Amino acid sequence: MTVSETGSASLDIATEDERIAGLVDLVTVADSTTETIPVEAPFDGERIGAIPACGEADVELAVERAREAQRSWAERDIAEREEVLSRFQDLVLDRRKELLDIIQLETGKARRTAFEEVQVVALTAGYYSHRGERFLGREKRKGVMPVLTDVEVNHVPVGVAGLISPWNYPFELALSDALPALLAGNAVVIKPAEQTSFIALKGKQLLEEAGLPADLFQIVTGTGPDIGPTLTETVDYVGFTGSTATGRIVAEQAGRNLKKCSLELGGKNPALVFPDADLDRTVEGMVQGAFSNTGQLCIAIERCYVHEDIFDEFVDRFVAATEELELGATYDFKPGVGSLVSEEQLEKVTAHVEDAKASGATVHVGGEARPDLGPYFFEPTVLTDVDLDMDLCCEETFGPVVSIYPFSTTEEAVEEANDTDYGLNASVWTSDTEFGRDVARRIRAGTVNVNEAYGATYASIDAPMGGMKDSGIGRRHGKEGLLKYTESQNVAVQKGQGMAPPDGVPFWLYAKLTSGALRLFDKVPGLR
Ligand code: NAI
Ligand code: MG
Repeated sequence: MTVSETGSASLDIATEDERIAGLVDLVTVADSTTETIPVEAPFDGERIGAIPACGEADVELAVERAREAQRSWAERDIAEREEVLSRFQDLVLDRRKELLDIIQLETGKARRTAFEEVQVVALTAGYYSHRGERFLGREKRKGVMPVLTDVEVNHVPVGVAGLISPWNYPFELALSDALPALLAGNAVVIKPAEQTSFIALKGKQLLEEAGLPADLFQIVTGTGPDIGPTLTETVDYVGFTGSTATGRIVAEQAGRNLKKCSLELGGKNPALVFPDADLDRTVEGMVQGAFSNTGQLCIAIERCYVHEDIFDEFVDRFVAATEELELGATYDFKPGVGSLVSEEQLEKVTAHVEDAKASGATVHVGGEARPDLGPYFFEPTVLTDVDLDMDLCCEETFGPVVSIYPFSTTEEAVEEANDTDYGLNASVWTSDTEFGRDVARRIRAGTVNVNEAYGATYASIDAPMGGMKDSGIGRRHGKEGLLKYTESQNVAVQKGQGMAPPDGVPFWLYAKLTSGALRLFDKVPGLR
């Protein structure tokens, strides 16, 4: 390894797959880094390359460079920053084939699911590229003394945002949270999941092609425990997406360092099916919502509550539709379901299903690994007769496995849906949309979809998404997802009379007059 003048080491890491050639050079490494981590393609288990196992010195270097670049970025006009996002949107759409190839290469997901990522990143870039001025512009607020106190609120960038992202939607979850942070005038340092760092590096390449200044967007690769603590200590904001268990560790570190943070964590998402639901549409939407990305999706359906009057018919139709899903390890849009991401995921999914089977659950379809298709394939699986002592009843499976339970009253369905430590996403299926909305409002989840599994809420970028209870803290998307990367600064100019009694006015008189004024202000709508 040789070290260049700027302090970047030029890496000598072999890349076996040409689709990711050269990307590893975009990782920020100080000269201390020598260890590497191999990366494999889940479709066949073959090695595709390796990433540096970054440590403290690398993170410190990345944050230092980011901080330096952030100063001039924050001084640019918002319109200029919007333009970078707008050009990035075009590049993402133009270069989608390259992006889809890398996403599939690293995750083993179906190409259709990879396209969801490209779509959401493009949507997010486009959405924020038209709203920087509107959401970040200086605001006038009401001053304490009419006319005399002039108040403005400035949305000041936090500085450097550190983002830790997972492997399940690696392009979307690395980039979609970075875009508003950048627009707000921040620098970003990302630690992608070990399995999926190349697509984040590709994102960096495209952002810089779109005009993002060098050094503003840094990527450090490696394991969470090696990088997480230093990242949390040195950045100004921590954004984490991943498991609830790791989220707790990150939140503790952020708390100790008094860093602002947001966490988007796990879910055990319920779907409630009422007797008047249009079953064709419901079954189609729920099969997609359960098995998209082979179920490795924080907002995927894992629990289905179906009214007893339609239970048997629903199970038959849901099972039939699941049987029709096509699995495959190909770089085209044909198969709807791809591989799991790793041996670890395959083991976890298998353990959940085996435990349920051994405890008396009924498997209607699936239930087995498919080594004939690839080392980590697992069949879409539908279970009934699942009860509380089975691991998959309450724990997030994060695989292609759903359980169906009957219910008899709306009350009972809502209670079951809420009987979980999680509160990320839910769906309600009914022909009566007013009733659907009403049920939705009673569910303790950050997003609730009526007659859709998750796309209606998630892709409506204007509205916030995130988790209640153990599913997280904070929100992404919308105005909330941008302003979280800012500090609200209150600047007030006091004119003429100050906040004390005028010269010669005794305090008893001042207290009397002020009390009268407060009462009067409260009665006059324009002065409240
Ligand atoms: P994870 O939550 O441990 O990993 C997510 C990210 O956090 C990765 O970039 C990882 O390197 C990083 N990380 C790990 N330990 C860290 C630490 N101590 N400090 C800072 N960062 C750290 O998830 P993992 O291990 O990949 O998967 C385990 C399970 O988590 C899955 O089976 C699934 O159930 C769940 N999961 C849920 C996700 C969701 O969006 N709800 C996403 C990914 C995993
Ligand atoms: Mg982990």
